[in-house]
Amino acid sequence: MNEITLDVKSAKSKIDRNIYGHFAEHLGRCIYEGFWVGEDSPIPNIKGIRQDVVEALRKIKVPVLRWPGGCFADEYHWMDGIGPRDQRPTMINTHWGGVVENNAFGTHEFMELCAQLDCEPYVCGNVGSGTVQEMSQWVEYLNFDGVSPMANLRKANGREEAWGLKYFGVGNENWGCGGRMTAEYYSDLYRRYGVYARNYGENKLYRIACGARNDDYHWTEVLMAKAGDERMLNAPYMDGLALHYYTSVRRLPDGNRVGSATQFDEDEWIEIVAKGLFMDELVRKHSTIMDKYDPNKKVAMIVDEWGTWYAVEPGTHPRFLYQQNTMRDAIVAATTFDIFNKHCERVRMANIAQTVNVLQAMILTDKEKMLLTPSYHVFEMYSVHQDATLVPCDVQSERYAFGDYDVPAISASASIDGEGKLHVTLSNANPHKDIAVELFVRGLKGGQVQGRVLQGSSMNAHNTFDNPNNVRPSAFGEVKLSDDGLALTMPKMSVVALEVC
Ligand code: AHR
Repeated sequence: MNEITLDVKSAKSKIDRNIYGHFAEHLGRCIYEGFWVGEDSPIPNIKGIRQDVVEALRKIKVPVLRWPGGCFADEYHWMDGIGPRDQRPTMINTHWGGVVENNAFGTHEFMELCAQLDCEPYVCGNVGSGTVQEMSQWVEYLNFDGVSPMANLRKANGREEAWGLKYFGVGNENWGCGGRMTAEYYSDLYRRYGVYARNYGENKLYRIACGARNDDYHWTEVLMAKAGDERMLNAPYMDGLALHYYTSVRRLPDGNRVGSATQFDEDEWIEIVAKGLFMDELVRKHSTIMDKYDPNKKVAMIVDEWGTWYAVEPGTHPRFLYQQNTMRDAIVAATTFDIFNKHCERVRMANIAQTVNVLQAMILTDKEKMLLTPSYHVFEMYSVHQDATLVPCDVQSERYAFGDYDVPAISASASIDGEGKLHVTLSNANPHKDIAVELFVRGLKGGQVQGRVLQGSSMNAHNTFDNPNNVRPSAFGEVKLSDDGLALTMPKMSVVALEVC
């Protein structure tokens, strides 16, 4: 009944490492406290960036980091965040709680963070409240190596060489917080702003257009027709088109969510699992529209915001979006990665919202303390797929049903890495039942298998500052290798990673 067939001989598509990307916004305690503590902090830091967080993130091989927003991006004026820190102007972060933003973390600090993480920076420009000139100058500041007003300013601020930024977003959620625009209006602005976000030298900017919210297929249709058709100038105007989708129980009219991250019953467990799986339909339907205009898949789908979104933790600022993270989030992370892996020919970047202290975070901090969430461990277990070759996978799973929802219990994806090792990642969403699974591997070569499992003792198992290792991976021995493939028993509500070599 529960059978997975892997077709190793048909493996050909590369899983872009950027699918395992991240997002960090000036929101709540993500940037400030999460990454930036300042050079004078007693928390160990290099150039103001906390090292416990950097070390933990290097272990999950963060490939790309999107910044400064989110909604903050279309209110951000980058020149406020350069030059001597004590002379930078303050502003009000109107969207995220009306708190004072002192601009201590700006362009130089972000590029330093990416250097410390050894990841690609992805900067999102301001279309909603910024000018074409302002955006154009930011790209010049980042990328021009010669003599020019912006290159000279960068040098005066202590950075001689251009950074050579690759990934650049032309606005964020411009249908909403980024200016409440129509698709028709934004697509014209995208073309205009995109022209002046120049290429410098050998550096070809990878321009990413604001994409749809959820199932707004009209947005994708218009953007592809007006800026993504490959017949335009022999090349589409955009390299990537974004998509945003959050998994939540319900949204209130003020934008806040209901449903606790930790205090939930089985009805909200399965609702979140089912809504996470909806990503597959979204990717397929948006892809179908993109295929119509871009059959050769030149334009990538960039899911640059995704993840779970609950009511904030009791007692925390309602606009800081601080939430705990349980085995339920781990299952959503695993199934979402299976979806992205499966669609890797079109999905070439995705960015979890958000890396530290906000929404489905990898890491939570409390002053000098830090903990790794169950989602962090899924990112680590799935990091083996980065830049590996997708092995097509047919998953026949029994159903798991409760209340209004009915989902496949087992989800999986597989790849072959550069050394020829086969990696299979699986999850079992059923919180009550261990499930025996057979894996048929056509063309299996290899005689050894080893595995790790992430599981909790309850649906809401999570890590706290007092018990930070409650949920973490351990060795998994419930797997046998045969001539046909593998046989294993997936523990209830678990994520398993297998390596065959
Ligand atoms: O990630 C939080 C917010 O969600 C982002 O700022 C915005 O783009 C989205 O609505």
